[in-house]
Amino acid sequence: MDNLKTKINTHYSSIAQKALNNGSDTFPVLSCGSVKTIENLNPGETILDLGSGPGREVLLAAQKVGPTGKAYGLDISLDMLKLANHNREKLNITNATFLQGEMEDIPLPDNSVDVVISNCVINLSLDKTRTISEISRVLKPKGRIQITDKVTLNPLPQQARKDPELWCDCVGGAITIDEYRQILEQIGFINIEIEVEHQQGCCGDQALDAFIYAEKS
Ligand SMILES: C[S@@+](CC[C@H](N)C(=O)[O-])C[C@H]1O[C@@H](n2cnc3c(N)ncnc32)[C@H](O)[C@@H]1O
Repeated sequence: MDNLKTKINTHYSSIAQKALNNGSDTFPVLSCGSVKTIENLNPGETILDLGSGPGREVLLAAQKVGPTGKAYGLDISLDMLKLANHNREKLNITNATFLQGEMEDIPLPDNSVDVVISNCVINLSLDKTRTISEISRVLKPKGRIQITDKVTLNPLPQQARKDPELWCDCVGGAITIDEYRQILEQIGFINIEIEVEHQQGCCGDQALDAFIYAEKS
């Protein structure tokens, strides 16, 4: 499993290196869902984006929460953090901070975040229960999640779930809508809504984009 994590890290690091070296497009599109993740953010709120990549959503969120708010991005890849900081400096945004770390072990205190956002990342977690438990830990009471992610209607075939390339493409690690809901319920989230957005023609199976909303009780 650690090999898989290293492969995922290397895959996204090389995308970030290319973007930084070529410089023309420093916001490569890696997301799989809509911009709903950054809707309904309020001035003064603290936002955390898991797997923030080039930082697009963190920087938009930072603008929405304004000078009294704060947006954090968390990413495992040092190269992605370099790219995100490059973008932050280019746009001169001062209330955004990019942290290095893993979504399974979030480097923020308990009850410190109003909204956890994430776009096309939780499917990459090798321990989704732990990731969602970490999300719950850092959220304030009544905090919310606004996430887009890949999901499936039926479990992926065993072969697909073992394919590192498919994991890097955000498909191999996708779980079913029912599994997603079960984990959220098990961790104690309430008002859970999982809305399938549109189907992508990936890997011949039902790898769908979904928007996931839930609240910490
Ligand atoms: C598909 S990209 C999405 C990037 C960004 N959310 C976007 O929409 O542009 C996945 C990102 O998650 C990061 N990532 C992968 N595994 C991670 C982990 N365990 N913890 C934190 N970040 C991770 C990758 O480095 C990459 O930047």
